[in-house]
Formats: sequence, structure tokens, C-alpha cells
Amino acid sequence: MSSTLERAEALEREQIVTLENKVVTRSILYTSGDYDPREPPPWRKAYMANPELRQMQFLAGDDPRLPKMPAKPTLLDFFTYRFGPSQHLLQSARLAKLNGCSEKVILGCLLHDISVVGFLLPDHGYWGAQMVAPYVDEEVAWAIKYHQALRFYPDESVGYDYPDQYRRWFGDDYVPDPYIERDYRYARNHRWYMSARQITINDLYAFDPDVTVSLDDFVDIIGRHFRQPPEGLGHDDSPAAHMWRTIIRPTKFL
Ligand SMILES: [Fe+2]
Ligand SMILES: [Fe+2]
Repeated sequence: MSSTLERAEALEREQIVTLENKVVTRSILYTSGDYDPREPPPWRKAYMANPELRQMQFLAGDDPRLPKMPAKPTLLDFFTYRFGPSQHLLQSARLAKLNGCSEKVILGCLLHDISVVGFLLPDHGYWGAQMVAPYVDEEVAWAIKYHQALRFYPDESVGYDYPDQYRRWFGDDYVPDPYIERDYRYARNHRWYMSARQITINDLYAFDPDVTVSLDDFVDIIGRHFRQPPEGLGHDDSPAAHMWRTIIRPTKFL
């Protein structure tokens, strides 16, 4: 019968992964909430407690558990090798196309939740906008940023109601944070308001299970409106390159 302490130690050992004789580190964000972020995370405790592990180096390159990315990755490569299921984005873009939206708005719809599928959930509109800003028209990045606030606010003039899905996800009494309200008010009076609003209009809260949309349908629009850096996303020197690098190597040590 093992003691509570032994069980805790065993659990901590399970939290550490070694690959190719290297210790895999995890950012605080991976474990914050599951564990108190002010404490050393479990992998760190296990590492500190085990002299054998402390002889090892940290993983500082590709994570061998992940598909290898091309040397000069394109946006399409990220969809193929790193992003989670993307039908929501594809179906939103398809709807925008069917609704006769401009190519810029269609691209905005295709990328509006890019942070959700590839990077971070909190403030996904803001992160997503930063990820793509160096590569798309300023208006597209702006629309992606502000769709996050706009989706909480109906606009009868264009037939946008508060989504039923949000009542289920957030509860009937949910009040958006003050910065969301502030940014909504700012966006409401901006000349690009309708571009961000179009994203919310074409944002599908319920997928159509009978439709499977392929990224192939949008390769032309991406080619015309997404400035693919010749060095590959993440290997260029744009202000967002480090975000793409983090997606390529999410477990890189420092
Ligand atoms: Fe969104
Ligand atoms: Fe969405």
C-alpha cells in the first residue's frame, strides 16, 4: 500500500515526458488552472526530484510526436500539420461565399478563429488578428480582431441576433467583460464595422453535418490575399513570426 506521498510522486513522474533522451518542458499556460501557476509545474517538480532526469538536456527542437513541417511552411501547411479540426472555419468561409461577400471578407471568415484551432482560446480574436496581420490586408486583421466583441451584440439592421448557442455556452445572465463592451462600441462606429460584422453573420454556430468543405476551395483566395513569406511562416522576421514558430514547436525549451 503506497503512501499518499508516494502516489503523489508517482503522479508527478507521469507528468514528465522524455523523448530521444531529452526532457519535454511545458509552458505555464499548459497547466495553469489544473495546477497553481505560482507553484513549480508537475514536470518541473519531477525533474528537480530526479537526478537521472537532471542529467538530461531539454527538448529544444522539433517535438518528434508531431508531424514534421516543411522547411518553408505555408498557411496551408499549418492547416494540414498543426491546426485542429477546421470545418467551422471552412463552413463559415463557404457561407460568406454563398452570401456574395467580398474575397477579403471570405478570407476573414476563413481565418477568424485561427487562434482557436491553432493557438489559444482566450481572446482568440485578438490573438488571431495579430497572427495574420503581417500577411493580410489591414481590414481583414481588424475584422478578425473585432468579431470577438461584435458577436455578443445583435444588429437588427443586418439580421444578426444574439446567438442561441451563446445562451447555452455562457448562460442567460452572461455579461461580456468591460473591454469587450468598450471594443464593441469602438468597432460599431468604425468604417470597417461591416467587415467585422460580416464575420459574425457568417460565423456558423451549428455545423451543417451534410457539408464537408475542402480547403482546396479557398486556395485561390488565399493565394490572392495572403502574403505568404518566401522563408516560410515562422521563419520570416514579421512581428508575428514567433507565434507561428511556437505553433511549429510548442514544447521548445525557451
Ligand atoms: Fe470567434
Ligand atoms: Fe467562429
